[in-house]
Formats: sequence, C-alpha cells, structure tokens
Amino acid sequence: MTKNRTFTMIKPDAVANGHTGAILNDIIKNGFKLVALKYTSLSGTKASEFYAVHAGRPFYNDLVSFMSSGPIVAAILEKNNAIDDFRTLIGATDPAKADEGTIRNKYAKSIEANAVHGSDSDENAEIEGNFFFSAFERF
Ligand code: CMP
Repeated sequence: MTKNRTFTMIKPDAVANGHTGAILNDIIKNGFKLVALKYTSLSGTKASEFYAVHAGRPFYNDLVSFMSSGPIVAAILEKNNAIDDFRTLIGATDPAKADEGTIRNKYAKSIEANAVHGSDSDENAEIEGNFFFSAFERF
C-alpha cells in the first residue's frame, strides 16, 4: 500500500468545545503524519465554495452558516491508505451511528456539528487541500 493523503477540518463545534488537542492527538496516535496544519476560519462565501458539491441539498444553507460560525483547524494528513483509514477513525457522518471510540462518537454533537471532516477520495483530498494550503504550506 503506498502512502497517500487526506484532508481534514476540525469543525467549529469541536474547536469551540476545546477538543482540538485531543482530536489531533487521536489522529497522530493512529499513524497519520501532519504535512500541513492551519488554525483559520471560513467566511460564508468560502464555506459555500468548499461545500458547492452539496448546493441544493436541504442541509446546505445551515451547513454553510455552521461552518462559517467560528474558527476551524485545517490539516493535510499522510498515511498508507489515508482516505479509508481516516474515515474509519472518524466514524459515520451521523455521530449517533458512529462506532464506539471513533472521533465523532467521542466529540460530535449532531450530524451537522459532527466534529471533523474527512475527504471521500484521493481526488477530493487534493482539491480540498489545495483550497486551504499553498505549495509553501505543505510538506
Ligand atoms: P462532511 O462529510 O464534512 O461534509 C458534508 C456535511 O454536511 C457533513 O459532513 C455533515 O456535517 C453535514 N450534514 C448536515 N446535515 C446532513 C445530512 N442530513 N446528511 C448528510 N450530511 C449532513
């Protein structure tokens, strides 16, 4: 299995509730290497752009306003089988369905305020990482 990359955000709920350090620790302990890291925020415009793929879905407007409601942490992570292993580590989108011990099971409150994002494909990981990080900010 070759090393590849995924993109994650620690979402406004988890940052506001003080879970940033614990979540980064879970990520690192599970074998992911941080190759880019940023404490930042999304404007409404930037959040609509990032989630454009969901435009038209019933939860889109709420998602955009939630994601621009406070600071986030964005990161690019490297590991063998990064996309699938990270999605296993974070658990199901709906924390009520997330397996015991997963990040969403431990830290998420609802399907919207679900603590973390994880890319769903190599292609999207590349697009999402480039959305937040310039070439100088990735290693
Ligand atoms: P994420 O995978 O980061 O990207 C899309 C987000 O939409 C998802 O996490 C959820 O936080 C959010 N969302 C809100 N409501 C829903 C819903 N009903 N179904 C799927 N995703 C939802």
